[in-house]
Amino acid sequence: MQLWDFAALTYYRVLDLFTGSLNDLAVEKLDLRPGEAVLDIGCGTGASIPALVEAVGPQGRVVAMDFSARMVAIARKRAKKWPNVEVRQADACTTDHGAEQFDAAVALGAFSAMPDVPAAIANAADALKPGGRLFVFDVRLAKKTHTTSFLRAAYRRIAGFTGADVVAELKNVFERVEPVFGVEGETTTVVMARKITDTATDSARTPSRPAG
Ligand SMILES: C[S@@+](CC[C@H](N)C(=O)[O-])C[C@H]1O[C@@H](n2cnc3c(N)ncnc32)[C@H](O)[C@@H]1O
Repeated sequence: MQLWDFAALTYYRVLDLFTGSLNDLAVEKLDLRPGEAVLDIGCGTGASIPALVEAVGPQGRVVAMDFSARMVAIARKRAKKWPNVEVRQADACTTDHGAEQFDAAVALGAFSAMPDVPAAIANAADALKPGGRLFVFDVRLAKKTHTTSFLRAAYRRIAGFTGADVVAELKNVFERVEPVFGVEGETTTVVMARKITDTATDSARTPSRPAG
């Protein structure tokens, strides 16, 4: 957590200036509608908040969350002009965001930095309504190459990377997980995951019997 508090006060001030197109891509792929509720998991300094709140409008709701006090303080400052934005300080691995409260969620560079990736993804799925959409941009170092081996070691040292494969973990929980660009990157990934509806769950899990 100290790392992220430090990041909030230092290089994130610069990084924030370059995240615009990723936020726009997330909003586009999530197909956010006015009035929807959206969750921003590991929101950092809240760089995604303006794009999200603009997409859901004044009738919608944005909940952004992060466990770093510094990140949250900056995100709250950024969000204070919108009454329908709430910034929570919490651990995404242990927090119940509220069952089936959200139409959509984003996790931008967040899951892979967490100590319990499967738990964080399960909590995200619980928070989505049936049919809810999740946009994920993240580090993915699943393939074994010289580059990925080096990056895994560096990421582990710097941010406590556990080695979890975010895409594989998403596939354990979400029925549909699709790469946004049609292919998987070697070091990063951009995917859309969708939580199945109850009806879809039932028909997917119950094989239909032949009549008679
Ligand atoms: C690489 S930053 C990404 C921030 C933001 N999503 C963005 O795109 O600018 C990763 C963020 O995940 C947060 N984070 C790491 N572990 C977390 C956890 N267990 N619960 C909540 N947030 C966490 C960090 O504090 C940090 O703000």
